[in-house]
Amino acid sequence: MPLFSIFHSILIIFILQLLCNGTYSKLNLKYAILRQKQASKLQNDTFVNQQRIKYDAQKTMRVIFYKNNTKTLETSAYDDTYDLNGSGCSASEKFAIVLHGWIQSCTDEWATSLIERLSYYRGGCVICIDYSVVASSSYMRLYTNFNTLTGAITSIILALIKQGFDPKRGYLFGFSFGGQLASAVGRNLYPHHVIESIDTCDMAGPGFDPIAVDHSKAGKHVQCFHSSQDKGTFVYSCHRNIMLGSCGLKQPSVASQLHLGSHGLCVDIYINTFDYPFYALNSTPPECFTWHEAAKIPDGYTVGYEENFDGQVTGQIFVPTSLHYPYNLSKKQLMLLSKNNG
Ligand SMILES: *[C@@H]1O[C@H](CO)[C@@H](O)[C@H](O)[C@H]1NC(C)=O
Ligand SMILES: *[C@@H]1O[C@H](CO)[C@@H](O)[C@H](O)[C@H]1NC(C)=O
Ligand SMILES: *[C@@H]1O[C@H](CO)[C@@H](O)[C@H](O)[C@H]1NC(C)=O
Ligand SMILES: *[C@@H]1O[C@H](CO)[C@@H](O)[C@H](O)[C@H]1NC(C)=O
Repeated sequence: MPLFSIFHSILIIFILQLLCNGTYSKLNLKYAILRQKQASKLQNDTFVNQQRIKYDAQKTMRVIFYKNNTKTLETSAYDDTYDLNGSGCSASEKFAIVLHGWIQSCTDEWATSLIERLSYYRGGCVICIDYSVVASSSYMRLYTNFNTLTGAITSIILALIKQGFDPKRGYLFGFSFGGQLASAVGRNLYPHHVIESIDTCDMAGPGFDPIAVDHSKAGKHVQCFHSSQDKGTFVYSCHRNIMLGSCGLKQPSVASQLHLGSHGLCVDIYINTFDYPFYALNSTPPECFTWHEAAKIPDGYTVGYEENFDGQVTGQIFVPTSLHYPYNLSKKQLMLLSKNNG
C-alpha cells in the first residue's frame, strides 16, 4: 500500500531532523512522527474522542476460540470473565493465539489456514483475536490504537492465566502489525509471565522503525520471519531472525502470481513450513548485508513452526524461497546456490 512508503519518507525526514538537532529521545521520535501526521489528519482528536476510540477498540474486539479446528466460542474482549466451559478448551492444555494485521480479520484465508494447521500439528486451544473493526480504517488510526490494543490483548491473556492456562504452554503468532502487537504483549507480560514461544511474520516496520526494541524480551523463544523491505521491520532483535527469499527483503514468487506481495507471502510461506521443508543456508549469502551474528546451523536444518524449539539455533538464518507455490527449494537446488556463493 502506498501509505507505507509515505510513512517511510516521513521517517527518513525525521531521522535527518534527528541528526541535525539530536535532542529527541527514541520515544519522542515515535510520538513526533505521530504528531506530524496527526496534526493534519486528526484535528478533532480531543480527549473525549480519544477515550471513545479506546472504548471502541476493546468493545469491538472479538475473542474466537477453536478446538480441533472447529469454532466453539466467540466472545467480546470487553468482558474478561468468559465462560470457557463453552469453548471446549481446558486450562491444562496448550494454547495458541493468532493476531492479524491491518485491514485483516480472523476470517481471512491465511488466518483460517493457520488455525487449521495449528489445530492439526499443535493441537490444544487455538484462539484468534479479531480487531478488524479498528484495523479497517487508516493505518494511522490503527497505529494510534497500538497501546490500547496491546493493553486489551494483554488483559485477555491475563484472564486466561487467571483461569489456569500456563504461559509455558503458550504460543503467539502475529503477522505484520499483529507481529508488533505479539511482541509488545509478550514484553508487557515479561518477566512475570513468560510466553513459551512467539512467532512473527514480517512484523510491520512503518511507525515502529528504527526504534531499537528488544523483541527477544517478549518470550522464551522469539522467532521472526522477514520477507519484505517496504513493509517489514529492519529491527532484527528476535532470538532467531529468518530471512526469507532474497536476504529477507524480497520473495522471487512475487513474479509468478499477482495476489500477494513479498509482505503477504510471509504468512503463506509460514503456513507451508508445516508441510514442506524450507532448508536454511549454512552461511550468510555474500549479497546479503548483515552486521548480525549468523546462526550456527545444523545440516539439513529446516525453518518454520517448531514444536520443540531448539534454543541452540539463534541469530540470522537465510532461507531462499522459490518462484512457485509452495515456495520451498529442494536440497539439491540449495546446494547449487551455496556452491555458486562459495
Ligand atoms: C469532534 O468529534 C466529536 C465527537 O466525535 C463530534 O461530535 C464533533 O462534531 C467533532 N467536531 C469537529 C469539528 O469535527
Ligand atoms: C477432530 O475433527 C476431525 C474432523 O472433523 C474428526 O475426525 C476428529 O475425530 C476430531 N478429533 C477430536 C479429538 O475431536
Ligand atoms: C464450568 O464447569 C465447571 C465444571 O463442570 C463448573 O464447576 C463451573 O461452574 C462452570 N462454570 C460456569 C461459569 O458455568
Ligand atoms: C518442496 O518440498 C517437497 C516435499 O519435500 C518436494 O517434493 C519438492 O521438490 C520441493 N520443491 C521444490 C521446488 O524442490
